[in-house]
Amino acid sequence: MSVEITCTWRAAITDEEMVDLVRSHGGRAEAGWWDRIREHSLGWVGARGEDGLLVGFVNVAWDGGDHAFLIDTKTRGTHQRRGIGTAVVRVAAERAKAAGCEWLHVDFDPELADFYFGSCGFRSTDAGLIHLRPAQ
Ligand SMILES: CC(C)(COP(=O)(O)OP(=O)(O)OC[C@H]1O[C@@H](n2cnc3c(N)ncnc32)[C@H](O)[C@@H]1OP(=O)(O)O)[C@@H](O)C(=O)NCCC(=O)NCCS
Repeated sequence: MSVEITCTWRAAITDEEMVDLVRSHGGRAEAGWWDRIREHSLGWVGARGEDGLLVGFVNVAWDGGDHAFLIDTKTRGTHQRRGIGTAVVRVAAERAKAAGCEWLHVDFDPELADFYFGSCGFRSTDAGLIHLRPAQ
């Protein structure tokens, strides 16, 4: 089943809407999270259905220059596998390019390889990670 969505860049999303979206896919929502981090973003993409309901989201962080970083891709639990995640990532890439970025980075768990490589157009690269806050 397809769904009509409208994707926007840097349009308002309330903290309450973000909490609802995260809960909808079984994530651990934290009230205040979105209000706290939004100001650090190059931008973000929101996808809304015809009724205005927030059904998709992705955030784009950056280094102020060539590098943009895709984080927190989310699709409403009831709306997954309808192309919404792919659509918000496509808009994020277009907007990061328009902002002058040369590279768009992402990291993810292995089970999402088909999504990021197969559907969103990322290619594989070497990357590194340090967990700065290991479990006590
Ligand atoms: C990952 C996520 C954003 C994908 O959103 P989506 O709107 O369902 O993705 P799409 O419909 O655009 O998927 C396109 C293709 O990507 C692949 N894909 C999408 N979700 C997948 C999943 N969970 N597992 C494996 N492949 C997946 C499939 O090939 C899919 O095509 P198909 O439906 O014809 O099989 C969504 O599952 C989600 O919000 N998950 C919870 C939060 C999360 O883990 N975010 C990732 C942070 S890195």
